[in-house]
Amino acid sequence: MYVCVCQGVTERQIHEAARQGVSRLKELRQQLGVTQDCGRCASCAHTCLKEARKAHQEQQLRYVPHASGENGLAAAA
Ligand code: FES
Repeated sequence: MYVCVCQGVTERQIHEAARQGVSRLKELRQQLGVTQDCGRCASCAHTCLKEARKAHQEQQLRYVPHASGENGLAAAA
Protein backbone atom coordinates (compact mmCIF):
# COMPACT_ATOMS: atom_id res chain seq x y z
CA MET A 1 0.00 0.00 0.00
CA TYR A 2 1.23 3.48 -0.80
CA VAL A 3 1.85 5.65 2.22
CA CYS A 4 3.24 8.64 0.36
CA VAL A 5 1.67 9.13 -3.05
CA CYS A 6 3.83 12.13 -3.97
CA GLN A 7 7.08 10.17 -3.56
CA GLY A 8 5.65 6.72 -4.31
CA VAL A 9 6.72 5.32 -0.95
CA THR A 10 5.10 2.08 0.16
CA GLU A 11 4.47 0.52 3.54
CA ARG A 12 6.98 -2.20 2.61
CA GLN A 13 9.72 0.39 2.06
CA ILE A 14 9.01 1.89 5.47
CA HIS A 15 9.22 -1.54 7.10
CA GLU A 16 12.57 -2.11 5.38
CA ALA A 17 13.83 1.28 6.56
CA ALA A 18 12.79 0.40 10.12
CA ARG A 19 14.66 -2.88 9.83
CA GLN A 20 17.73 -0.90 8.81
CA GLY A 21 17.47 1.26 11.92
CA VAL A 22 15.35 4.25 10.91
CA SER A 23 13.45 5.29 14.02
CA ARG A 24 12.25 8.84 13.43
CA LEU A 25 10.07 10.51 10.84
CA LYS A 26 12.87 12.95 10.09
CA GLU A 27 15.17 10.06 9.16
CA LEU A 28 12.42 8.52 7.05
CA ARG A 29 12.04 11.84 5.24
CA GLN A 30 15.76 11.98 4.53
CA GLN A 31 15.92 8.36 3.38
CA LEU A 32 12.69 7.95 1.41
CA GLY A 33 11.37 11.46 0.85
CA VAL A 34 8.06 11.10 2.69
CA THR A 35 6.36 14.41 3.63
CA GLN A 36 8.62 16.42 1.33
CA ASP A 37 5.88 17.57 -1.05
CA CYS A 38 2.30 18.02 0.18
CA GLY A 39 2.97 16.61 3.65
CA ARG A 40 -0.37 14.82 3.87
CA CYS A 41 1.35 11.52 4.52
CA ALA A 42 3.06 12.65 7.74
CA SER A 43 0.60 11.09 10.17
CA CYS A 44 0.25 7.85 8.22
CA ALA A 45 4.03 7.58 7.68
CA HIS A 46 4.64 8.14 11.39
CA THR A 47 2.09 5.48 12.36
CA CYS A 48 3.49 3.04 9.81
CA LEU A 49 7.05 3.61 11.07
CA LYS A 50 5.93 3.05 14.65
CA GLU A 51 4.22 -0.22 13.73
CA ALA A 52 7.20 -1.32 11.66
CA ARG A 53 9.62 -0.66 14.52
CA LYS A 54 7.39 -2.55 16.94
CA ALA A 55 7.15 -5.53 14.57
CA HIS A 56 10.91 -5.48 14.04
CA GLN A 57 11.59 -5.36 17.79
CA GLU A 58 9.18 -8.25 18.42
CA GLN A 59 10.92 -10.23 15.71
CA GLN A 60 14.27 -9.62 17.37
CA LEU A 61 12.90 -10.73 20.78
CA ARG A 62 11.83 -14.05 19.26
CA TYR A 63 15.41 -14.74 18.19
CA VAL A 64 17.08 -16.77 20.92
CA PRO A 65 20.60 -17.90 19.98
CA HIS A 66 21.59 -21.40 21.08
CA ALA A 67 25.07 -22.56 21.99
CA SER A 68 24.31 -25.83 20.20
CA GLY A 69 24.52 -24.11 16.83
CA GLU A 70 20.82 -24.27 16.06
CA ASN A 71 19.41 -21.44 14.03
CA GLY A 72 18.14 -19.67 17.15
CA LEU A 73 14.58 -19.23 16.02
CA ALA A 74 12.25 -19.86 18.90
CA ALA A 75 8.88 -21.40 18.22
CA ALA A 76 6.18 -18.81 17.80
CA ALA A 77 4.03 -18.54 20.91
S1 FES B 1 1.72 12.22 0.09
FE1 FES B 1 3.69 12.32 0.97
S2 FES B 1 4.39 14.29 0.47
FE2 FES B 1 2.45 14.16 -0.47
